[in-house]
Amino acid sequence: MRNALKFLANSLALLCVSPCLVCYCIAALLQGKSPALAGVSQLLSLLPGTTGVYLRRAFYRCTLAECGEGSVISFGVLLTHANTTCGDMVYIGPYCVLGDVGMERDVLIGSHVSITNGNRQHGIERLDLPVREQLGQWPRVTIGCDTWIGDRAVIMANVGQHCVVGAGAVVTKPVPDFAIVVGVPAHIVGWRKAPAGSEQTAAPLSSAGEK
Ligand SMILES: CC(C)(COP(=O)(O)OP(=O)(O)OC[C@H]1O[C@@H](n2cnc3c(N)ncnc32)[C@H](O)[C@@H]1OP(=O)(O)O)[C@@H](O)C(=O)NCCC(=O)NCCS
Repeated sequence: MRNALKFLANSLALLCVSPCLVCYCIAALLQGKSPALAGVSQLLSLLPGTTGVYLRRAFYRCTLAECGEGSVISFGVLLTHANTTCGDMVYIGPYCVLGDVGMERDVLIGSHVSITNGNRQHGIERLDLPVREQLGQWPRVTIGCDTWIGDRAVIMANVGQHCVVGAGAVVTKPVPDFAIVVGVPAHIVGWRKAPAGSEQTAAPLSSAGEK
């Protein structure tokens, strides 16, 4: 019965977002997929409540490279890249801004998190050209399965599987699997599971400082 109701809600949501899908297809032909996605994403980000969650999921399941079962993309979330992938049961909290990101299943992202494509979107070497005109690099960022990212973190590099990124952390370098990182710049303060071959023991952050 529950599954039937969910199927009905998802189908209804798909029907409701069909005008957005038509607009997206036209805009994608004219501007390219990512600019088109960014525009519709801004509109859909304004829809509140559970209805908004269902409508956004229906839209993104048709437009993103992957948008998994049970994924929740909350109010105010802006997605800017059509190559973004979002595995099953991914939760993205309110007001996040995401670039070209691959999120594996069960990723949990708090509110106001920014995930940028690296940290050199613009060149800064030349002084005879404004920064906005200098080409940079936009590497795709991946977030491994079962990783939890706290509120207001800024992620500029890959984060492994089963990691914890503390609230307000700024991740500038890749984070290995199972690591717990906090701070600016983010640094490892504990492990959910010790790395293979290391003498480290898995320790909750609260006891990491006692070692
Ligand atoms: C990273 C986190 C999971 C660690 O929790 P914990 O293991 O219970 O750690 P504690 O609270 O015992 O803190 C241990 C130490 O780390 C510090 N610390 C904890 N979180 C920190 C953070 N985000 N940034 C900087 N330092 C942090 C504490 O101040 C403490 O330092 P001290 O030993 O010098 O006193 C948690 O603090 C966190 O940031 N959670 C995210 C919460 C959030 O954003 N929720 C909303 C989204 S779902």
